[in-house]
Amino acid sequence: MSVNIAIDGPAGAGKSTIAKMVAKKLGYVYVDTGAMYRAMAYYFLTNQIDSTDREAIEKAVETVDVTIQYENGQQVVLLNGENVNDKIRNEEVGNMASATSVYPNVRKKLVALQQKLAQSTDVIMDGRDIGSVVLPNADVKFYLTASSSVRAQRRFAELQEKGVACDLDQIEKDIIDRDERDMNREVSPLTICEDAVLVDSSYMTIDEVVAELIRIVEEKTNGN
Ligand code: DC
Repeated sequence: MSVNIAIDGPAGAGKSTIAKMVAKKLGYVYVDTGAMYRAMAYYFLTNQIDSTDREAIEKAVETVDVTIQYENGQQVVLLNGENVNDKIRNEEVGNMASATSVYPNVRKKLVALQQKLAQSTDVIMDGRDIGSVVLPNADVKFYLTASSSVRAQRRFAELQEKGVACDLDQIEKDIIDRDERDMNREVSPLTICEDAVLVDSSYMTIDEVVAELIRIVEEKTNGN
C-alpha cells in the first residue's frame, strides 16, 4: 500500500513550497492539485470562456485534457498535450481557477486524476479538498495556514523580488476574497478535517514547518 499525505489550506500558506521540501526529504512524489485547476482555468481564459458561463465551462470540460507527467522529479502539467507550467503561475489564472473550481464536473474530472496518481505511489498532495474528498483515508492530514496579513506580506515580497509592481493592501484583499470563495463554495469547500493536524506557519520559518511536518509523518507512519 502506498503512503498518502494530504495538505490542505488557504491560498498563500506556503503549502507547495513546504510539500515539495517534505516530499524530497521523504522520497515521495509531490502532487500539486492547484496546478490542475489552474491548467483548466488557463484553457477557459485563452478560449474566452467566462467564469460565470456554466454551460460553456461544462461543455469545455468534456473535451479538455489535463494530465500530469514527472520530469526530473518535477511535476509537469500538460493541457491537451502542451506543457503549461510557465503559463499558470499568475494571479489572473489563480483567481480564474478559484472561480471555476466551484463547478462539480471540473472537480470530478480532476479528483479522478488525483486519486489515480495516489493509488500506486507514495504521495504528498496539496490542495483544498485533499483530506476531505480526494484522499479521505490519507495516512496523515495537515491543515497548513497563516494569517492573511502574513500571507499577503510573503506574496508581496515574492512579487517584489521578481520586479513585479504590486500593492500590499490589494494582495491581502485578493487573498481574503479567494479564502472566502474557496471556503464557502457548495462543492468540496476548504475545511479543517477533524483528523487533520493544524499547523499555523505565521511565526515559523520554512525549515521549522518542514521539520515539524516530517516529525509528525514519521510519528504517524512509524517511519515506514
Ligand atoms: O493552490 P492554488 O492557489 O494553486 O489553487 C488555485 C485555485 O484552485 C484555488 O483558489 C481553488 C482551486 N483548488 C481547488 O478548488 N481544489 C484543490 N484541491 C486545489 C485548488
